Amino acid sequence: MSEKVIPKASINSDSEKGVDRKGFLSWLSIGWLAFAGATGGFFTVMIRFLFPNVLFEPPQSFKIGYPDEFTKGKVDTRFKKKHAVWIVRDDNSIYALSTVCTHLGCTPNWLEAEQKYKCPCHGSGFRKTGINFEGPAPRPLERYRIVLADDGQIIVDKTKKYQQEKGQWADPEAFLKV
Ligand code: FES
Repeated sequence: MSEKVIPKASINSDSEKGVDRKGFLSWLSIGWLAFAGATGGFFTVMIRFLFPNVLFEPPQSFKIGYPDEFTKGKVDTRFKKKHAVWIVRDDNSIYALSTVCTHLGCTPNWLEAEQKYKCPCHGSGFRKTGINFEGPAPRPLERYRIVLADDGQIIVDKTKKYQQEKGQWADPEAFLKV
């Protein structure tokens, strides 16, 4: 029985062709991946350009309701999530406190039972008024401008801040007389 002898040169050139084909295919896939990545990146940039972040930010000035909707002696936490403010009503006034810790900017929690705001990051504590009394926070929480609109509702305006240590809490727009 005679075996068919395949010339060595022919084996080499066929396997080389196979290797070449594999190499070509892998380069083609890398090319396609690079192209798809670049196209995806381009469209992502375009979408970010068409819909910038600023469109989704809550307004800096907003109405929160009428003064008699706020209970004396209570901290109203309804606006914390969306607007980052606590609305506090004491005996004679209503004020809007910033929920940004004055240590490194974390968000404290209002603890009703302990009557204090407690920061989860490094343990700073603030009294209901916003005055710091424990932990590393170097100064009280800030307050925002609070005024009445023509329709009798309260407007909180976060573009203007008042700092206790600068004597600004006495400003007539740092609180609302009730
Ligand atoms: S950020 Fe609030 S205690 Fe550090």
